[in-house]
Amino acid sequence: MKKLAIVAAVAMAAFAMSASAAGDAAAGKAKAASCGGCHGANGEGMGPNPKLAGMPADKFVAAMKAYKDGSRPSPMMKSFATGSDQDFADMAAFYASLK
Ligand code: HEC
Repeated sequence: MKKLAIVAAVAMAAFAMSASAAGDAAAGKAKAASCGGCHGANGEGMGPNPKLAGMPADKFVAAMKAYKDGSRPSPMMKSFATGSDQDFADMAAFYASLK
C-alpha cells in the first residue's frame, strides 16, 4: 500500500513538472526567429525542410531533444537544437498554435 502511494506521488510530481514546462507561444515566436529561414516564417515548410505549423507540442519537443542528443541525426538540425527544455517547449507552443 505504501509503495502504491509513493508511485502515485511520483506520477503526480512528474505531471506537475510537465505542466510547469508548458510552453509560452509568444516567447517561442521570438526564439524561433532563426528557424523561419528554412521552415518558413509561419512554419509552413520549404523544400526539404519539413512543415512545423500545427505539429503537436510533444512531438516537436521530442524531435528537438533527439536532434540535441544526437539520437536523431541531422547535420542541419543539430546546430539549431541547442536550446533548453524551456526553449523547446516555448517554440513547440508557437508552432502548435499555427495552422
Ligand atoms: C538550415 C535549415 C534549417 C534551420 C535554420 C532549422 N531547421 Fe529544423 N529542420 C531542417 C531540416 C532539413 C529538417 C529535417 C531533418 C531530418 O531529416 O530529421 C528539420 C527538421 C525539424 C524538425 C522535425 C520535424 C518533423 O516533422 O519531425 C523540427 C521540430 C525542427 N526542424 C525545428 C526547428 C527549429 C525549432 C529551428 C530553429 C531553432 C529549426 N528547425 C531550424 C532544417 C532547418
